[in-house]
Amino acid sequence: MRTIGVGLIGTGYMGKCHALAWTGVRETFGDGPAVRRVMLCEVDEDLARRRAGEFGFEASTADWRGLIADPKVEVVSITTPNALHAPMAVAALEAGKHVWCEKPMAPALADSERMTAAAKASGKVAILGYNYIQSPAARFIGKLLKDGAIGRLNHFRVEMDEDYLADAEAPFSWRSQASAGYGALDDFAVHPLSLTTTLIGMPSAVFGEMSKPYPDRPDGGGRRAVETFDIATALLRMADGVSGTIQVNRCAWGRKGRLQLQAFGSKGMIVFDQERFNEVNVYVAEGPAESQGFRQVLMGPAHPPYDKFVVAPGHQMGFNDLKIVEAHELLNRIEGKPSLNIDFDQGLAIERTIHAIARSSREGRWVKMGEA
Ligand SMILES: NC(=O)c1ccc[n+]([C@@H]2O[C@H](COP(=O)([O-])OP(=O)(O)OC[C@H]3O[C@@H](n4cnc5c(N)ncnc54)[C@H](O)[C@@H]3O)[C@@H](O)[C@H]2O)c1
Repeated sequence: MRTIGVGLIGTGYMGKCHALAWTGVRETFGDGPAVRRVMLCEVDEDLARRRAGEFGFEASTADWRGLIADPKVEVVSITTPNALHAPMAVAALEAGKHVWCEKPMAPALADSERMTAAAKASGKVAILGYNYIQSPAARFIGKLLKDGAIGRLNHFRVEMDEDYLADAEAPFSWRSQASAGYGALDDFAVHPLSLTTTLIGMPSAVFGEMSKPYPDRPDGGGRRAVETFDIATALLRMADGVSGTIQVNRCAWGRKGRLQLQAFGSKGMIVFDQERFNEVNVYVAEGPAESQGFRQVLMGPAHPPYDKFVVAPGHQMGFNDLKIVEAHELLNRIEGKPSLNIDFDQGLAIERTIHAIARSSREGRWVKMGEA
């Protein structure tokens, strides 16, 4: 059986998700290469060694360039803060490695372009960590839209809300630094855009608004000015005339992982919320008026790839399972099989949309995609 060597950079929230995905992908899907967890990297040797023990990696380092240089590492997972994605991804691709980089690509558009060019020049597989497109529900919604279950799509709304920065006294972190990007746009809006890119299409023009609810946050003994915008709203005009909105808020008390999609069609509508991501609600305007209403479809073995995780309906998949599916799609792509991932090319289109929304917010006008 073929083996593929994996290197992991960063072992925080997403680092652990990647580590678990690499551990379980072959066991879950029963195909593809055996995964060898070669080396992981953290900011200091002690932490790296500890994490390597916990995550089952053979070796550890505090030098990400050393990890990339290791010939046993064939694919690199990048799960570090946003500002580090470009240097790490470009170096890995130039060294001839496949890359699985967390979203967003990079805070600066020029860096996202550099990453895309490096991917193209390398001929290697380079994908982004857009896990929400991997759920059975997202695939089911894609099928419903394609089959015309709700008629012609007229309009969509996607909202992503969490409350991890809702407390004005939450400490300052890399997420509030301008080096991480605009804020809620790079952190959250890219996820709704991954769904609309996959399920609906690309916008031709956008109108944006960004706001900053708290001007500063505790940092050490004092306070530090917040450099990012924690709330953002965008109107999207799609190429085929469909309209949509994206609203994102990192300060939304009560919302824990809400990523709600509403798709309105000429014959009905679809409602989905990531906080209940094993359910899809469908309304079709047919039959007697007194019987019309939403139908809740619970994801189960009939909705691939749920069956790879559990054979019984009603038992539900979880967030980390989406990362296992993502790893499987990445391995499929490496093996030249059809796969569902957002690669660096598509990721760059998402980044261009983000920068156009920010520009619109600054200039107070519609911005056409592709505008100089
Ligand atoms: N796909 C998703 O749903 C999702 C969710 C959360 C975060 N993310 C993305 O994942 C990335 C990381 O976010 P997180 O929440 O895991 O952050 P985190 O702060 O929990 O983890 C980042 C890790 O990177 C390590 N690190 C920093 N600099 C390093 C270096 N030079 N070398 C090695 N390790 C280094 C840190 O020590 C830390 O352990 C971000 O880009 C974020 O946008 C994606």
